[in-house]
Amino acid sequence: MDKENYTLRWDETAMKFLVRRTLFTHGSFFIPHLQPGMSVLDCASGPGSITQGIARAVAPGAVVGIDMSASQVALGTERARTAGMSNLSFREASVYELPFADASFDAVFSHALFEHLSDPVRAARECLRVLKPGGVIGVVTPDWDGFIFSPETPAMVAAAREYQDTQNRNGGDVRTGRKLGAILTAAGFVEARMQARYENFEPVTIITDLLAGHFEREGQPEHAAALREWADLPEAFFAEAWVSCVARKRD
Ligand SMILES: C[S@@+](CC[C@H](N)C(=O)[O-])C[C@H]1O[C@@H](n2cnc3c(N)ncnc32)[C@H](O)[C@@H]1O
Repeated sequence: MDKENYTLRWDETAMKFLVRRTLFTHGSFFIPHLQPGMSVLDCASGPGSITQGIARAVAPGAVVGIDMSASQVALGTERARTAGMSNLSFREASVYELPFADASFDAVFSHALFEHLSDPVRAARECLRVLKPGGVIGVVTPDWDGFIFSPETPAMVAAAREYQDTQNRNGGDVRTGRKLGAILTAAGFVEARMQARYENFEPVTIITDLLAGHFEREGQPEHAAALREWADLPEAFFAEAWVSCVARKRD
């Protein structure tokens, strides 16, 4: 399978961070495009918490989540079973080689994947292939140039810089958010429309625990300590900039 070097990995801290997400908190821009009976593909569904919201919105339409990680597919499947959802399934696959025929879906969604990809246009082209003519895509990624954190202590600035450099070295691009319209248009989509929003981390440990866990795993304890010390400051504030893009496949 054609995989990426995914920076955040799939440990318990990362799962705790991802399962907080719902369609309403993180994918609300896409809700107006979902109708009962639609078939939807969620690319890189992770533990599937947003995917479950999509499946509820389009029921009885069928929703499939794909992820390159077998552990995520197993987790998404188990969580959907526990939630008693019958119109939702998960498959192990790369976004570059979707295991579906041309024109299979009414809609494609992807949250927090494209910033990790070395060839996002190729991924978008593959999404275009599996969409029906006239179908809609919704893609969301962060843009680190829009992040706000305060106070900007030198150690915190260095840790944030190092995280961004690592993700970029791994083949991703931490400034993908602003490029989404260009990426989807280059892949052949039309009518690309972008929006931005902020996610406020309250408490800030929601994000600092995730990043500190990354540095501990990577053998960079000084950056992990800096993040944990910064999070203890009473005035600590951290907001993540998310950019979404909705576009269509030509009829
Ligand atoms: C940050 S998580 C996002 C999960 C979920 N969409 C969410 O926002 O909660 C990114 C996911 O992308 C998956 N991933 C990374 N590269 C991929 C690829 N080339 N094809 C399919 N999945 C990929 C990872 O396994 C991981 O589960």
